[in-house]
Amino acid sequence: MVFVGKGKHNFVIVQHFCPILTQYPHIFPVVRAVDWFIRSFFCTFTAKMCNRRRLVFRPMKRYENYSLLAHNTFGMDVRAVLFFEYDTVEELRAFLLTDDFIHCDRYLHIGSGSNLLFAGDYKGVVMHSAMRTLEVVSETDDHVLVRVGSGYVWDDFVAHCVAQGWAGVENLTAIPGEVGASAVQNIGAYGVEVRDVIVQVEAMALDGSVRTFTNEECQYGYRDSVFKRELRGQYIVTHVTYRLDKTPTYRLDYGDLRSRVEACGEPTLQAVRDAVAAIRDSKLPDPSVLGNAGSFFTNPVIPRVQYEALKAQYPTMPSYPVSEALVKVPAGWLIDSAGWKGRSLGRAAVHDRQALVLVNLGGATGQEVMALAERVCEEVYNRYGIRITPEVNFISCD
Ligand code: EPU
Repeated sequence: MVFVGKGKHNFVIVQHFCPILTQYPHIFPVVRAVDWFIRSFFCTFTAKMCNRRRLVFRPMKRYENYSLLAHNTFGMDVRAVLFFEYDTVEELRAFLLTDDFIHCDRYLHIGSGSNLLFAGDYKGVVMHSAMRTLEVVSETDDHVLVRVGSGYVWDDFVAHCVAQGWAGVENLTAIPGEVGASAVQNIGAYGVEVRDVIVQVEAMALDGSVRTFTNEECQYGYRDSVFKRELRGQYIVTHVTYRLDKTPTYRLDYGDLRSRVEACGEPTLQAVRDAVAAIRDSKLPDPSVLGNAGSFFTNPVIPRVQYEALKAQYPTMPSYPVSEALVKVPAGWLIDSAGWKGRSLGRAAVHDRQALVLVNLGGATGQEVMALAERVCEEVYNRYGIRITPEVNFISCD
């Protein structure tokens, strides 16, 4: 018996050469050289294939009866029938054509779960993007276009932009979530909305076809886009292209942002990022300590005449202009002045530093949080005649 080496290519050689080798042992070095050559060729070829077509060689992440605890910032310990995470557009397309997806009762695509409230176990497929690519697609002296994978953590993207000196998203520091959701949700804070910097959004339809939406086609509004309305559930965002400026235009006119930034000297992107992070830290609870999903409600937009009448009655009621005829009223103020700030119902509570945020005091169910939300809405309506609506997506368990 001649032993040439381990591995399936060697096995082929041994099978072919064994009878000859026993008869002519002196050709053994030649066989070994041939074997080495074949092995090297196959290894290099296989390695190249692995790099180019990760789809073929990487195991897809597909888990049954999967805990979603690490995938929702409210801290709900619920399970999905199936969880699927993909690294490439090809993997996503392949999954959409599987029986797992085609025959599932329902599906949900999540980001980091920072805007979700699960009522209970999810009886369907939950999908998540792990596409964390970032590429500069074009650059001039004035601006840069960056194409980012939907699974890129939003605040890591902001940190990257600030470090590169790219302006436009620094006011959106420390918003939980991922790039894909930024484009669906039109995230906003401190006078900036992400629609201001989005150039285009690439998304995959459930049949695997890909469509590119211009900023205009996304039909952005306050915390709103076409992906939340007409096209809800029909497309999965895969990449977002942002346009960032190389010369910053600082937007510091929200609350005490300017005074905080200017206290550190001339404004810089990093100073804005630090100031926004400090403001958010002082008001918003850390989800790893106290489960929450940021703003639970959107700020209601009401007719200016209604606001004027209320203002006469409640002179401290703040507002932001929306148009000639409309104003936005902070839901946090309405809830606070209705006496709900810091109050709890069961194991759910209104946060004691920002009334717009509902928190899980520990072990609360989705229903408990919703019961609190409904009670708060009702009392705000009874007092001011204004309906506040959740920004958070309530995912029922039926
Ligand atoms: N207010 C109160 N009591 C409170 C909270 C707020 O009286 O408990 C008053 C404040 O005094 C202020 C006004 O309401 O006059 C607005 O408050 P704030 O500046 O904190 O902003 P917001 O309208 O409550 C929105 C976003 C936040 C974002 C901030 C800053 C929505 C739904 N929320 O909150 O977004 O960080 O502006 O731009 O538009 C999020 O989406 O998770 C989020 C935190």
